[in-house]
Amino acid sequence: MDDDALEETLAQFKEKRLGGWGILQLTAGTGLAVYAMWAGVLMPGFRRVPLKLQVPYMPASKRQVGNVMTLLKGRSGGFADLGSGDGRIVLEASQQGFSPAVGYELNPWLVRLARFYAWRAGQYNTVSYRREDLWKVDLSGYKNISVFLAPSVLTLLQEKLLTELPEDALIVAGRFPFPNWAPCRIEGEGVDRAWAYHMKALRKQNQSKNITSTEHTR
Ligand SMILES: C[S@@+](CC[C@H](N)C(=O)[O-])C[C@H]1O[C@@H](n2cnc3c(N)ncnc32)[C@H](O)[C@@H]1O
Repeated sequence: MDDDALEETLAQFKEKRLGGWGILQLTAGTGLAVYAMWAGVLMPGFRRVPLKLQVPYMPASKRQVGNVMTLLKGRSGGFADLGSGDGRIVLEASQQGFSPAVGYELNPWLVRLARFYAWRAGQYNTVSYRREDLWKVDLSGYKNISVFLAPSVLTLLQEKLLTELPEDALIVAGRFPFPNWAPCRIEGEGVDRAWAYHMKALRKQNQSKNITSTEHTR
């Protein structure tokens, strides 16, 4: 198409006014494209997860990863990142000596990407990325857990962690703290802040809360 023809087509397009039907088609098309992007790229694999438990992907910054590792310093044993995204926290944990170092992630694209990064770092055999729903995983074998999830799911996750984790487990939360727990340590500032919680202390907190609430109801 030469320049004149292109200009003419553009002029015709500008002159054409969008009617109600045109606007409806444009809106439906845009909505469909946004939905396809959401369902196909950002949240595939989430069909069976209730809407209120769906957390979109947002990778941890270098500082956030560093703060998580600072809070885990001196510890060893199994490590799991619940909702591991592109696997950066698991990779770092493995480099710090945690074994097994496992990431649970529902988005298959992110699981593939995480495996690629692990392969590129020469750590394909020391980390493991599993395409599993974190709510269905048995966490009783892990002494070290990290979570970068939304506040809306943290309350529910508290119950799962209290039920399943061993007494000497340490949980590190990034971006948002657990709503009803008192952290044993905090690292970093602002959005980079991370909170550590020791399971033994949490169970004590929980017990004394239960005792107080039964005393109040008497
Ligand atoms: C905010 S991102 C954090 C990613 C990674 N931990 C990081 O900090 O870089 C949360 C991740 O959790 C995943 N996710 C959300 N709900 C999940 C579930 N029920 N099971 C497994 N992964 C889940 C999302 O796909 C997303 O990649």
